[in-house]
Amino acid sequence: MQIDHPILQFKNVSISYTPGKNAVNHVNADIKKNRITAIMGPSGCGKSTLLRAINRMHELYPDIRISGEILMDNRNILKMNPMEVRRMAGMVFQRPNPFPTMSIFDNVIAGYKLNGIRLKKKEKEEIVETCLTNVGLWNEVKDALFKKGTFLSGGQQQRLCIARALALKPEVFLMDEPTSALDVTVQAQILDLLREMQDRVGASIIMITHDLGVVAEVSDKVAVMYAGRKVEEGSVEQILFNPQHPYTKALKGCIPHLQRTPSSGRHRLHEIPGMVLGMAELGKDRCSFYERCPCGKPECMEHNPPAKAIDAGHEVACWLYS
Ligand SMILES: Nc1ncnc2c1ncn2[C@@H]1O[C@H](COP(=O)(O)OP(=O)(O)O)[C@@H](O)[C@H]1O
Ligand code: SF4
Ligand SMILES: [Mg+2]
Repeated sequence: MQIDHPILQFKNVSISYTPGKNAVNHVNADIKKNRITAIMGPSGCGKSTLLRAINRMHELYPDIRISGEILMDNRNILKMNPMEVRRMAGMVFQRPNPFPTMSIFDNVIAGYKLNGIRLKKKEKEEIVETCLTNVGLWNEVKDALFKKGTFLSGGQQQRLCIARALALKPEVFLMDEPTSALDVTVQAQILDLLREMQDRVGASIIMITHDLGVVAEVSDKVAVMYAGRKVEEGSVEQILFNPQHPYTKALKGCIPHLQRTPSSGRHRLHEIPGMVLGMAELGKDRCSFYERCPCGKPECMEHNPPAKAIDAGHEVACWLYS
C-alpha cells in the first residue's frame, strides 16, 4: 500500500459565490492516499465549499467561480466529466439522505443506475450484500431489503448512505460532518466504521468536522481552515499536541475541559473572543485572525501570511513563523 502518495492535490484553489469575495482563498494542500484527513475550522470558513468542489457540486450554483487546480492522479478534476468525477469521489452528507422513493436494496446500487451502468441480478445482489456487510448493516436489514431506506433509524440511514458510496468503489470518500446529526452512541459506531474502512480496504477519506474529539478519534492528518484559508496542517499529533497557529491553539483551549466558575458552580465552556470576519473582509491581503489573535501586531494587517513548513508534514500560515 502506497501510503504517502497524494490522492488529491489542491493547487491555489479559490472559490467565490459573489465576484471578488472568496469563500475559499488560495488553498494548497496534498491529501494523502489511504488516510483519514480531517478538515476543521469554524462555521462559514469554507470547508463545505472546498469539499463540494471536489465532486463538482459547485456547478449547481450558477454564479460560482473557481480557479486553480484540483488534481486526482495528476488529472485536473475541474476539467473532467462530472459524472466520472462523482464515481471517483463518493460523497456522504451531514444528514443521512437515502433516496426516499427507493428500497434499501435500490439505494445501495443507485450510483450504478445514475451512471447508466446495467448490472445482472446476481451482480446487484452481491454488491448489496458486500456493501451492507462492510457497513455492519447486513444482519440488521437482510430480511427488509425491499422496504424503503427511510424506514431505518438515523444511524442505519447514514450507514446505508456510506454503503451507497462504497458500492461504486470510489478513489476517495468525501464526508461533510457525517456524524454531527447523530446521537453520541451512533456517532461512535460511524467513527468505528470509518476506521475499519481505512484499516480493511485502505479507504482515503476527507472528513469535515468542527469537533476536536472526532479529529482525535479517527483522523491521521488535519487541515485547519479559518476565513477561507488553510492556516495550519499536520499530523493529528502535531495539531492536537503541538498546535502552532494562534487559532489552532485557541481552539485547543476550547476543548471541553469544562471549567467550574467559582461564583455559580456551573460549568462554562471556554470560547475564543471576538467574531469570525464578515464576507466583505474575506480574501483581503491581511491576516484574517488579527482581531481575535493575542499575538497580533499591526504588520499582520499588511499582508496575508504565507504557509511555512516548520517540521516534517507540519505547515503554518502566520507571521510569527514567516
Ligand atoms: N450557496 C451559497 N451561496 C452563497 N454563499 C454561500 C453559499 N454556500 C456558502 N456560502 C458562503 O460561503 C462561505 C463558506 O461557507 P461554507 O463552505 O458552507 O462554510 P463551512 O462549511 O466551513 O461552514 C460562507 O460565508 C457562506 O455564507
Ligand atoms: S499573522 Fe499575526 S495576527 Fe495572524 S495569527 Fe499570526 S500572529 Fe496572529
Ligand atoms: Mg459546512
